[in-house]
Amino acid sequence: MRYMAVSKMQRLTLILVTNLLAYVNGQAPGDDRTCTGVTNIHYHCGGESVSPGVEDGNQSGSFKGSYRGKAGPKGDKGSQGEPGTNEEIENELSLLKQEVAELRQRLDNQAIPRSCAEVNETAHRASGRYIISPNPFRVLPFSVSCDFSNVVAETIVHHDSETEITISKCEPSRCYNRKVDYQLSIDQVAALVDVSTSCRQFIKLRCLGVQPFLNRNPSIAAWVSRNATAKTYWGGVTPDEIGCACGLTGTCATSSRACNCDNGSTSQQFVDDGDLTHKPDLPVTGLLFGDNGDDSEKAWHTLGPLICTGIN
Ligand SMILES: *[C@@H]1O[C@H](CO)[C@@H](O)[C@H](O)[C@H]1NC(C)=O
Ligand SMILES: *[C@@H]1O[C@H](CO)[C@@H](O)[C@H](O)[C@H]1NC(C)=O
Ligand SMILES: *[C@@H]1O[C@H](CO)[C@@H](O)[C@H](O)[C@H]1NC(C)=O
Ligand SMILES: *[C@@H]1O[C@H](CO)[C@@H](O)[C@H](O)[C@H]1NC(C)=O
Repeated sequence: MRYMAVSKMQRLTLILVTNLLAYVNGQAPGDDRTCTGVTNIHYHCGGESVSPGVEDGNQSGSFKGSYRGKAGPKGDKGSQGEPGTNEEIENELSLLKQEVAELRQRLDNQAIPRSCAEVNETAHRASGRYIISPNPFRVLPFSVSCDFSNVVAETIVHHDSETEITISKCEPSRCYNRKVDYQLSIDQVAALVDVSTSCRQFIKLRCLGVQPFLNRNPSIAAWVSRNATAKTYWGGVTPDEIGCACGLTGTCATSSRACNCDNGSTSQQFVDDGDLTHKPDLPVTGLLFGDNGDDSEKAWHTLGPLICTGIN
């Protein structure tokens, strides 16, 4: 019973895929003039030369073992299976049609620039909003800001945490959790990062008494990467380090500590900031802080938009 349905579905799939291939080659569906690659597999290119419902014989066997012996005599034609229900086939067909429509759409999306670097190449010069399609086969196109005012075109993705935000009060490590909303899927933003030569995102902590990396590991503060992993390297620092840029050079407010803020003074504000540039971790999807429970403690965070340049 399944055999018949599958066999029919295989033919329908082939018709749809053949038409899709023709579409990719810029042909009308059913036009088989140059589909030589397709005619090799015993169906002709083009829907009308395939006759759904004609029995195939026994093609459903699978090869077992690692090598084959001499070919035996041709086998008998298999017996006709019970036909699948019309409804079953209609449903499968409509699903396949949907998939083909979606694939066509994605092929059309290949004509859309992958980032602002390509927008410039296509001679649209004015800075502003543009639709980009960094990976047509993985994510849908989306709107970004293109800035062409500098030497290198910048693709900018904004989010809801760009202005300085007061960190709400709580004491335990990473008790404060701010999610960053790009109004896009993380996969879409990540696709832009992957297709770009380089990307950066500015991160800043302004603090009064809050000590984000005092005990280094586990740290009180972290930011969340594209794949939901807590990261403990601050702006200007490579992924294999913990803490802030001044900590690497021993130039923090308290020279032995990992960040300026780790000084901990409640009478003097400090700042730790810099660009995050390690592409596999971008974009930033969240910010985690703590050690802010006391009345004398205060802290503020700022996260820049994602800015990408170049094209891979
Ligand atoms: C079809 O092939 C399979 C696998 O080789 C075999 O087990 C089965 O007996 C064959 N059926 C017919 C009707 O020849
Ligand atoms: C735009 O493209 C031109 C020509 O490819 C290039 O010289 C120019 O630097 C580009 N401008 C920006 C802003 O990328
Ligand atoms: C904190 O920073 C201030 C100003 O740089 C400095 O005078 C003070 O000694 C630092 N505190 C500690 C504990 O290092
Ligand atoms: C997340 O990304 C890091 C690299 O930044 C990688 O080591 C880790 O395996 C990834 N985790 C998942 C769940 O993909």
